[in-house]
Amino acid sequence: MTRRFVPPHPPRSRKPVATWRGFFGERARTAVYGWSELAFDSWYFKRNVLGHTVHVVLKPEWVQRVLLDNAANYEKPRLVKRVLGPTIGEGLLTSDGELWRAQRRIVAASFIPPAVDALVPVFGEVGEAMAGSWQAGVRDMAVEATSATMRIIAAALFSGDERLTTREAMDHITAAMEGVGEARIQVLLGLPLIPLMRRGRRGRRGQQFLRRTLGEIVRERLREDAPDDFVTHMARALQDRFGPGQAIELATDNAATFYLAGHETTANATSWTLFVLSEQPELQERVAAEAREALGSGVAADLPDRLPLLRAVVEETLRLYPPVPRMDREAVAPDMLGPHELQPGDFVSIWPWIIHRHKRLWDEPDAFDPDRFAAAGKEQRHRFQYMPFGAGPRTCVGARLAMAEALTILAIWLSGWRFAPVPGRQVRPSGMVTLRQAGGLPLILTRR
Ligand code: HEM
Repeated sequence: MTRRFVPPHPPRSRKPVATWRGFFGERARTAVYGWSELAFDSWYFKRNVLGHTVHVVLKPEWVQRVLLDNAANYEKPRLVKRVLGPTIGEGLLTSDGELWRAQRRIVAASFIPPAVDALVPVFGEVGEAMAGSWQAGVRDMAVEATSATMRIIAAALFSGDERLTTREAMDHITAAMEGVGEARIQVLLGLPLIPLMRRGRRGRRGQQFLRRTLGEIVRERLREDAPDDFVTHMARALQDRFGPGQAIELATDNAATFYLAGHETTANATSWTLFVLSEQPELQERVAAEAREALGSGVAADLPDRLPLLRAVVEETLRLYPPVPRMDREAVAPDMLGPHELQPGDFVSIWPWIIHRHKRLWDEPDAFDPDRFAAAGKEQRHRFQYMPFGAGPRTCVGARLAMAEALTILAIWLSGWRFAPVPGRQVRPSGMVTLRQAGGLPLILTRR
């Protein structure tokens, strides 16, 4: 048997880790840090985090109850809304009930397969322009992936508005995302959301920049001569449904939601895939050959369907490094998850990070094996043991777009360049909300 590549994960203690540790050191910066071996072999455990009861649910059947069968009983936690509210308000990601349903209906049309497939050439143009500007040598591929997905989301949903793709915009937006980690701790401690540290203050400025710029764009889109794109459709549909005042606020919330949710996660998926391929040169060669062949017939709508090996590699990467490593809910009414009783106000925490590496669900859970996602492997899995895009009614509305985008840019990059690790450099996961590489991902690029 060939030895499988086991990519790095944070160290795991044998015994459970005390909850208070979550507020200090690496655990306060990295959500996936500080889990014990036991967590990856349990179906459930309960924690008390500063007076909040948190049920960590890892059994697929119980996850299914929370995310699908009894989904109406589990809302986005008020606490999460407080942390994210200043940036993304009551947009699709952070609303519930009728407000959520109305918004989901409005945006869904922009993400149906034909609408997404029509965007593949846009993904291709950005991917090609970037790969064409590189020189051989060391390059931070996390920065490149973020820059690509930021340009793509601006091009695909905002008609390429230049206010969203400048260096200043990129810095502000990165700062806004990083500020969220600090806000989370303040909210848990019941403190007002005043940014105390430098990171928090930069985050606040970034968030203000984003709201101001997107607010301007939304107002422009409600005029007659606006371009025919996602933001214009969304802003006008919201105006019809909610009236002009609330529509501007909600359209800005959703513009921020889609801008942020739509690029950082896909950038992480792309850079983690480059990382695992940089560590497996033989597999990288096979993927590059497939990409060259598929690109021979051009960057057309069906390109993502002509890359089965690359797709399996990306799916396996999303298992080991899910860009959204946790999802939280708050119970509205009492419920039972198996023998476990939940009270209104309790939190349910669902961790793709743990479920995707669970010892009772996967064979060699930490090993990289794209064959798991080859056509034959799929049947044996429970639907709720693999959910990089979430599941149930709140599943990621941009999942198809994200996959098509990642596959297109990766195919273009891998067909023109070879990616190798920088000797001696360790890669480790980091991030409170999304999972990225600590300190970026410098790789050595050589032209093919
Ligand atoms: C690899 C890339 C991506 C990953 C891993 C990802 C992951 C997720 C996950 C796990 C959720 C569910 C969260 C929960 O249930 O609490 C979600 C929701 C969402 N995602 Fe994505 N996402 C990605 C790309 C995108 C893109 C490209 C867009 C937009 C263009 C997007 C927009 C959204 C929105 C708006 C929601 C909220 C949906 C709702 O609540 O109805 N995502 N995403």
